[in-house]
Amino acid sequence: MVFKQVSALALTLPLVLGAAIERRAAVPQECAFLLPIVDDLMDNLFENECGDAAHGALRLTFHDAIGIDPTLGYGRGADGSIIIFNQTELTFAANDGLDDVIDTHASSLSPGDFVFLAGSLSLATCPGAPQVKLSIGRPQPVAASPDLLVPEPFDPIDKILSRMAAGGNFSPQEVVALLSSHSVAGADTIVPGIEGVPFDSTPSTFDTQIFVEVQLRGTMFTGPGGNQGEVETAIQGTTRLQSDSGFAREESTNCFWQSFVNNQQQMQEQFAAAFFKMSLLGQNENDLIDCSAVIPPAPTFTGEAFFPPSLTHDDVEQACASVPFPNLPTLPGPPEVVPPIPQADDDDDDS
Ligand code: HEM
Repeated sequence: MVFKQVSALALTLPLVLGAAIERRAAVPQECAFLLPIVDDLMDNLFENECGDAAHGALRLTFHDAIGIDPTLGYGRGADGSIIIFNQTELTFAANDGLDDVIDTHASSLSPGDFVFLAGSLSLATCPGAPQVKLSIGRPQPVAASPDLLVPEPFDPIDKILSRMAAGGNFSPQEVVALLSSHSVAGADTIVPGIEGVPFDSTPSTFDTQIFVEVQLRGTMFTGPGGNQGEVETAIQGTTRLQSDSGFAREESTNCFWQSFVNNQQQMQEQFAAAFFKMSLLGQNENDLIDCSAVIPPAPTFTGEAFFPPSLTHDDVEQACASVPFPNLPTLPGPPEVVPPIPQADDDDDDS
């Protein structure tokens, strides 16, 4: 058995290493300084896992970038202002729980570049995630973002869509695509007393389960319930944001939401495009250098979407009027209780 494993490793390792060496050789010279930072973030910050630190870095990109409003005239979107002016931005209620990622490396590259390097790399830890594009060269941020620009989970869907259109010129479809990120996510601040409450049953895989599970009839809360921004979920241990529930059900977005179910390729492509667009908010792409080559591919994911144990098509709250929700296999076994996502501070061996 051990021999088999060792020989399998001996066969695959040169391929993996070969691919990594080839990829590194393709990195443009002006991006090469990023490679040691890439290694440090992957190995030490994320510990090569699609866990809490990676989730936090991904969320940080959104909170930095969406802090832009053309009519307010200050703050520059994807500019890293969230790091530099965090005394202001991190006190906003919507930015609770981001402090995991604001530490190292901000001195080696501009804060805006750091935020998007870390966020793009965080995806590379999550099986199934797309390899996103990364451009580098953002100037230093000039001002904090004004308050109240980051959507709240208790905001009406119309309000969130208007904000996303005003701040980032995002269409409703692009907003739903961006919410694929909630496939690798959980809440630290929604359920009092429990951190890392996952949004779906597979929070370490960038799969389409978020689109399946949020469409299921909510029947329970993890914890006592009654929290602002939270509605009933279908799976014990998970939490459902009121906003995600709304995106899955309201007419303006419900068919987009459903279209991602078991459509890994569409999810990857549309998320990657919308994420890159987000990374350029307030920036001029022509002034930036394409350093996408430093971003490694995520581990592949070949699984299919499923209904969690004991749940079936009958539990779907059909919302899209034109297309029926696809039928999916139900995983065997008793109803699942999804464990919380281990917190970065809890599982850090070094401290
Ligand atoms: C459009 C409306 C959105 C709303 C209302 C929203 C709301 C939220 C809320 C309330 C949480 C839980 C925060 C906590 O208690 O810790 C969360 C987590 C998260 N969000 Fe969103 N979000 C939105 C869009 C996005 C976008 C566009 C991205 C990234 C592209 C994103 C990425 C994440 C990630 C990765 C987490 C998990 C963070 C962690 O586990 O540490 N979200 N979101």
